[in-house]
Parts: sequence; C-alpha cells; structure tokens
Amino acid sequence: MEQAPLHPNPLRLPVHPRIDEALIERLVRAFYGRVARDPELGPIFAAALGESWEPHLQKMFAFWSSVTLMTGRYKGKPVPAHQRLSGVAPHHFEIWLGLFRETAEALCEPEVAEIFVVRAERIAESLQLALFYRPGLSPAFGAASPGESSR
Ligand code: HEM
Repeated sequence: MEQAPLHPNPLRLPVHPRIDEALIERLVRAFYGRVARDPELGPIFAAALGESWEPHLQKMFAFWSSVTLMTGRYKGKPVPAHQRLSGVAPHHFEIWLGLFRETAEALCEPEVAEIFVVRAERIAESLQLALFYRPGLSPAFGAASPGESSR
C-alpha cells in the first residue's frame, strides 16, 4: 500500500487550479448570507458584528485564501476570536458545517466543494477542541457528567 506523503503540499501551491480569489469571495458572501438568516447562528454573529459584516467578510476572504491558495493573507487568531463569543455550543458547529457544505456544493464543482468542506471540517474540529474539550470530562465536550463537581 502506498503511504501518504508526510507533507501533502510541500511547495505550498494552490490546492486546486479552479480555486481563485473571485470564487472564494462568492463562496464566503453566499455562506454568510445563509448564516445571517439562520435562526441559531444569525443572532450569534449579530451580537458580535452588529451591522458591520464587511470587515468580517474581508477577513474570511483572506482566511480562505491562506487555506486554499497558500497566500498567507490571513494573519488573525481564530481561537481567541471564538472564545470571546458567548453562547456557542457544539451543535452550532454542525449547523455551521451544514450551511457551509450546502453553499460550497451550490457554487462549486463537486471536487472543489469537497476541498473547502474537508478543510472547514478539520478547522471546526480543532476549534471545538480548543473551545469545549476539557481533559477528564465526558466526551460530550465539556458537559460534566452527573455528580462531577465543577473545577
Ligand atoms: C459554531 C460555529 C461558528 C460560529 C458561531 C462562529 C462565529 C464567528 C464570529 C461571530 C466571528 C467574528 C468574531 C469577531 O470579529 O468578534 C468569527 C470569526 C472567525 N471565524 Fe468563526 N464561527 C464558527 C465556526 C468557524 C469555523 C468552522 C471556521 C473555520 C473553518 C471559522 C473561522 C473564523 C475566522 C478565521 C474568523 C476571524 C477571526 C479573526 O481573525 O478575528 N469559524 N466566527
């Protein structure tokens, strides 16, 4: 059996020739349009962003450009940005990923949609570990099991 290479993209080349900044912008705008209308996610974003979505969208273009085009345009720190939010729970990540998949599949050819979705899922996983995982608590991510005292 062939082994996967240790570094999947050693030269830091764009991960797919059909991904460019224009596609990223269309995807991000369409996705956050859906997020804003979602009854669970909409209020979380509204509380954090108020009316000013544009700076967030610009940041997200840079983020996806770094992830898929290897441009290094994104310089932020996603973990503290999400730790500051109140009321985010694991099921919100399922909604987020569902909307992201729907948008990517609507706007991109299947192979390209899969690239975005797989990366979003990986990043969501590591964000959730940072936000909810507490060693010693139950696998329900930070929900203390009955009888366990809070620390
Ligand atoms: C439950 C799921 C999520 C919620 C509710 C959420 C919410 C938010 C909000 C409200 C902001 C703006 C924070 C601010 O400017 O004060 C933000 C920023 C951001 N989010 Fe998320 N997010 C979620 C999942 C994700 C996922 C899965 C990714 C990546 C695939 C992601 C990537 C980012 C990035 C890169 C920023 C910009 C951070 C910065 O540099 O300021 N988010 N998110």
